[in-house]
Amino acid sequence: MLTERVPALVAAGGAEWEARALRSLEADGIVVVKRCVDLADLLGSASTQTAGVAVVDGELPGLDADAVMRLLRDDVRCVAVGGETEQLLRLGVVHVHPSGEADGLGAAVRAAASHDLVLDPEPEVTGGLEVRGVAGRVVAVHGPAGAPGRTTLAIALAAEHARRGSPAVLLDADPHGGTVAQHLGVLDEVSGLLAAARLVNAGALDAAGFARCRRVVSDHLEVLTGLPRPDRWVEARPGVLDAVLERAAEVGDVVVDTGFSLEDETELGRSLSRNQLTLDAVAAADHVVAVGSAEPPGLARLARTLVELRDLAPVPVTVVVNRMRDSLGWSRRDIVGMVEGYVRPAGVVFVPEDRATTDRALVTGRSVVELGDSPLRQAVAELRALVLPDPPAAAGSGSRVRRPSAGRGRWRCRRP
Ligand SMILES: Nc1ncnc2c1ncn2[C@@H]1O[C@H](COP(=O)(O)OP(=O)(O)OP(=O)(O)O)[C@@H](O)[C@H]1O
Ligand SMILES: [Mg+2]
Repeated sequence: MLTERVPALVAAGGAEWEARALRSLEADGIVVVKRCVDLADLLGSASTQTAGVAVVDGELPGLDADAVMRLLRDDVRCVAVGGETEQLLRLGVVHVHPSGEADGLGAAVRAAASHDLVLDPEPEVTGGLEVRGVAGRVVAVHGPAGAPGRTTLAIALAAEHARRGSPAVLLDADPHGGTVAQHLGVLDEVSGLLAAARLVNAGALDAAGFARCRRVVSDHLEVLTGLPRPDRWVEARPGVLDAVLERAAEVGDVVVDTGFSLEDETELGRSLSRNQLTLDAVAAADHVVAVGSAEPPGLARLARTLVELRDLAPVPVTVVVNRMRDSLGWSRRDIVGMVEGYVRPAGVVFVPEDRATTDRALVTGRSVVELGDSPLRQAVAELRALVLPDPPAAAGSGSRVRRPSAGRGRWRCRRP
């Protein structure tokens, strides 16, 4: 017995599976409201909101993450027939059906129609930082896998900067799922980054729109929260971060929390790289903070990160050796020697292990610098003096306008 009839759009792009699929869909109670000639026709038809699912050829020209997102915004889930499964799923396609099989397509369309979408509500709270006449500096906080403390340090750095009266925007650009919101106790569902990405896609990320994407954390500090789920990284397509950084730098200095990997997956033949946000942040940064953990595996990973950064960009790097403690048995001089074996750092800052303070920060939703004076806060102040010195460096950073995003394009490795 057939249940509810499901309206669908079909865009087969002339592929041979179309006739078989139409018969099979009809038999399964799927109502094909339109056979679209190409992607533009499909997107236009989706905007009339008469269908819940689009059945598309997996190799339809122009089918990319942006197109899939535009369909989702019109409440149309995408089922692909044929094509490269892994790549299509990364674009946000709900299901990929083998092109040689008509059987089961109707069931897949029916399942897609009830597929749960995580829709972002419109952000409510408007950021209050004002557009300044000078462009702010961009600091990317990076570091290897193993949770060395990137987010803790990025939050602390931005908070320390703001605490001293400088407007700061903290931007969560970790493509593996942002945690800045959880660290700061920002509990609403809105992802500032995805809200901004939508505006970028629509060509509408102006200063007022960007302010609506930000949340106020404290005087002078506003945050753009990150991805609510790791699988939503495809929605921040290449170019989004550049556009967001340009807007953010208009209102303050920018601290970007990034992911753990600098691997460019497009070099492996993929059409998109999950690490694009991290690569773009490092490429756009005026200064990179490389955070590593002080224990042996952490330092080994940090060394690899320093080599990667050295090979990627001629940007000043300050190294943070986090969770430093006497029980490890090596001196600061030993570690500085190791670091200098790989890069010539702008500075090396040691941040002490201080579980009590970081735990208190996490449970109260505050940064470690808001919890009163501590060796941890002193280390963060030292870091801030190195990467966001006061007053802002007169030469260059204070007056330059950020490079336009369109000109920068995709990150490419600079091989030595
Ligand atoms: N100096 C420190 N002393 C004690 N604990 C710390 C310190 N720095 C960070 N931590 C703790 O280590 C854990 C990981 O920190 P954090 O989330 O900042 O790492 P991350 O590098 O951003 O990790 P992820 O890969 O999950 O993004 C947290 O519980 C944090 O409170
Ligand atoms: Mg993190």
